[in-house]
Amino acid sequence: MIWLPGIDYLPMSIADYDNSKLTIFFSIRGEGTAALASFKDKVVGIVGPLGKPLSINTRSRYLLVAGGTGLAPIIRLAKELNSLGIPTTIVWGTRKGENVGEVPTFFKEITGLDLHICTEDCSIGFCGKAIDLVNELIPKLKPAEIVAAGPNDMLAEIAYLSFKSGINPVLILESIIKCGLGVCGSCVLGTTGLRLCKEGPAIKASKVIDYLIKYLPESRRKEVISKGLPYVT
Ligand code: FES
Repeated sequence: MIWLPGIDYLPMSIADYDNSKLTIFFSIRGEGTAALASFKDKVVGIVGPLGKPLSINTRSRYLLVAGGTGLAPIIRLAKELNSLGIPTTIVWGTRKGENVGEVPTFFKEITGLDLHICTEDCSIGFCGKAIDLVNELIPKLKPAEIVAAGPNDMLAEIAYLSFKSGINPVLILESIIKCGLGVCGSCVLGTTGLRLCKEGPAIKASKVIDYLIKYLPESRRKEVISKGLPYVT
């Protein structure tokens, strides 16, 4: 949680860190992030790290998927995987090519890896949504682990495709974070009872599919409800 004195607390993913620098990746969407962007050379407060860390399966091939600013928590993970020599493919989707900017360069500088970019306006990279490219890549790459971060409709689709391939992916979710300490209840994920700030933000899809199912297109939602899927009990 980043505290901007006199303004607010903002929940943020740590994109990278070393002994002297902590890197965050965000887009300006409201007053809080606009204030953060203007906080150059001013002191901010930090509470954290909060939540549970991700564990890495060192014998696996990874497919990382990010939608929009969901790239933030993927950056450090990609860096760790690359430093361990674990084969890793990263798909990043964004609506418009104009959002891409320096992100691929910034990403490569930190992680040493390239992004597979998807744009919905078809101006850069793969023409379509990240989930469309993921659908093509899963049978080709046969990843053992999939980790995804982004909007809930994308995460629901990732869970659906992964389950069909026998993979229980890790999803990095978003919710309304207020206290960040597990006491206010604002971040609870529907009827799962899971507090994103405490039990998350990275959670196995099998634990949250009941919460995410409403974000699936109707035909897929009906399929999941009528037939069930691996890991969905
Ligand atoms: S933000 Fe308060 S319980 Fe999670």
